[in-house]
Amino acid sequence: MTTHVDGIGFTDDDAARWPRSIRHIEEAHTITTSHRTDLEGRYPCVMTHGSGAVITDLDDHDYLDLTSAFGAVLVGHAEPAVVEAVTAAAASGNLFYTSASPRRLELAQALLHWFPWGSRVLCFKTGSCAVTAAVRLAQHATGRQGVLTYGYHGWHDWHLEAVPEYRLFPSYATGLDGGPEELREVLRRRADQIGAVVVTPLPHRYPPEHYQDLNRIAHEHGCAFVLDEVKTGIRAGAGGYTARAGLNPDAVTVSKGLGNGFPISAVVCRGEMALAHHRSHVWNTYQHEQTALAAALTTLDLTQRWDVPGTVAAAGEWVVDQLRGLFTEHGIPLELVGWGPSFELDETDDSGVRERLQQTLLRHGVFCDVEDDFNISYRLAEQTEVLMERFTAAVRKL
Ligand SMILES: Cc1ncc(COP(=O)(O)O)c(C=O)c1O
Repeated sequence: MTTHVDGIGFTDDDAARWPRSIRHIEEAHTITTSHRTDLEGRYPCVMTHGSGAVITDLDDHDYLDLTSAFGAVLVGHAEPAVVEAVTAAAASGNLFYTSASPRRLELAQALLHWFPWGSRVLCFKTGSCAVTAAVRLAQHATGRQGVLTYGYHGWHDWHLEAVPEYRLFPSYATGLDGGPEELREVLRRRADQIGAVVVTPLPHRYPPEHYQDLNRIAHEHGCAFVLDEVKTGIRAGAGGYTARAGLNPDAVTVSKGLGNGFPISAVVCRGEMALAHHRSHVWNTYQHEQTALAAALTTLDLTQRWDVPGTVAAAGEWVVDQLRGLFTEHGIPLELVGWGPSFELDETDDSGVRERLQQTLLRHGVFCDVEDDFNISYRLAEQTEVLMERFTAAVRKL
């Protein structure tokens, strides 16, 4: 028998293992969210708390967290120093009607230290907000409305209109997925309309030269070049992927990893884009919130003192290497592509092995999303041997 929730099938084994989670999902789907926005209903378990590399579900099962919560929890869940800083900030008042607070000034200084070429930092709560703000600044800076975009940038209208499957009413954003020649060709015809080329780097899919070409072509045509570093900006280390690839953007956006799971994002920009801030309206109430600023300041401090980027990159490379060996040994048709701290699994046939691996890993205490990226946190880097033992046990059961 199969239990059905909102069109999702759970097996009898799921129902026996995760009874509270499944009852909760049933209730939640009637009044909030839906399986479309709720991880496509691919999990029979609901996470409620976490500590370090471990997260725990409603049925009290523990998992090593290979998602790092969409990559946002860079150090680890409930990291004591971050919790302490947030608690202290909350205890002394979270939101004030004021100009930039001391914490915000301090964070801006820290981010300009991280991205030394920048001259202005604007803070927001989400990645979507930061990229939307960057687009608006680029429009003001160039006097051109159009946007060409590569990769994912969140859920705001300007971006979704460029994603065919979410088609909104197109007005000014166009999604591209070809190489530099495609960009050159589009800009040859339409450069006078294009204010910004907004690119999410995929370091595991393309070499730095690819992004250097996009950067150069955008500038040759008078467009602002915005690198959406929401995922990579902190995880890649000081200077983000921008520094690693030797890029020269007019703005970067950062968010995940900055607040170790607390909501904070920023645009770091320079030149005309930094000045355009005075002519535009990019602002929101909760950019004054103290708890997220405190989380970001502490996380950035830990990130530098503990060399979090170097540690997660070394651990990620080791795990990828071990997994490649494991998959080869057991004839598992999956390929790994990674860039250090994060990696993805590509299927090489249509056997559905990737989804089966995910379900089997859940039963062996590993939480991941095989369709998204796997993100190593600093605390998970301390437990990679245990992670591999669990992977090995799961792969043997496939
Ligand atoms: C590169 C990139 N940009 C923007 C976003 C949107 O961020 P948020 O979900 O915080 O709005 C994401 C989220 O996954 C992202 O990966």
